[in-house]
Amino acid sequence: MRFVRICLIGYGRVGYGFVQVFLRHRVWLAERFGFAPKIVAVHDIRRGTVFAPEGLDLARLAWAWREGRDLGELGQSGAGLDAFAVIRDSEADVVVELTPTDLRTGEPAAGYIRFALTSKKHVVTTNKGPVALFGNELLALARENGVEFRFEGTVLAGTPLFSLVEFTLATPIRRVRGILNGTTNFILTHMEAGRSYAEALAEAQRLGYAETDPTADVEGLDPLAKIVILANILLDGDLHPRDVPCQGITRLDPAEVRRAPAEGFRWKLVAEARRTEGGVEAKVGPERLPLSDPLAQVGGVLNALTLELDPLGALTVIGPGAGPEVTGHAVLSDLLAIHRRSAWATGGTSTVFSW
Ligand code: HSE
Repeated sequence: MRFVRICLIGYGRVGYGFVQVFLRHRVWLAERFGFAPKIVAVHDIRRGTVFAPEGLDLARLAWAWREGRDLGELGQSGAGLDAFAVIRDSEADVVVELTPTDLRTGEPAAGYIRFALTSKKHVVTTNKGPVALFGNELLALARENGVEFRFEGTVLAGTPLFSLVEFTLATPIRRVRGILNGTTNFILTHMEAGRSYAEALAEAQRLGYAETDPTADVEGLDPLAKIVILANILLDGDLHPRDVPCQGITRLDPAEVRRAPAEGFRWKLVAEARRTEGGVEAKVGPERLPLSDPLAQVGGVLNALTLELDPLGALTVIGPGAGPEVTGHAVLSDLLAIHRRSAWATGGTSTVFSW
């Protein structure tokens, strides 16, 4: 069995979610796919740094997160090292980059990702900033260096989208339209049922759905980043977030949100991107959808995306769009994709698929 060696940069809620999901399913993953990655280094700006060339004990790693312990207690401490040094010294094949999102600059994640790719390490991230701002550049850098850059968790969190497109669709996507933010969909669903905006937002924060600064959710900047990712990666666009019209949910009248269903409608924050004669266009904003629209039936933290392509017409993916463990699933899924591809490359296909 070949082991994928992981260096984890950023060990916050998503990192902990990833470790929890992996811990619960590691025996099945090893038996079913011959997939048994080892976490050989973890660096977090607040929690410290640990190196463990033989692989960390996942239960201890989870314990350290819950107890707020310095990671250096788990193995060889890397106190004082920055993320670049940890990536350089870890001897990992894959860097899992899970630092906080900055939608304006993409940093510090973009710098870590560039460094990892040029060091010929695969990169998995759930960080929307670098992918929205530099997605195609980073993909090109990965290709030049013969490694993969994967970001399943950036859109629809753990619900498969990029892998679905990559491995199953055979014709170009013309248009995508969907609900891409779990926090605002959760808030709108609860406001419709009579709860206040503030109560619903506080609950979304408690459940780990909201961004560190929830302004990014409620003002639409998070779904804006996601629709730019889809426009640029799936529709071959070249959009920058500043060029895309964007409005969040803060200007919606709560009474109107509550009243709409009785009139046959429901308010949703909708993001859309499509190919046009002049290039790719995108937008984000609240829409009063008829209840007959499939997106009107997507409630709570669920997200949905309708892809339009020939000859399928409309294909809709619906699933949880936020939450630490759900997003952790996307990390695991990307790591499994890297394992499968490298198993193919080395001819060891027997355990790559389960059927
Ligand atoms: N804050 C985001 C959301 C997290 O609510 O959808 C997932 O990207």
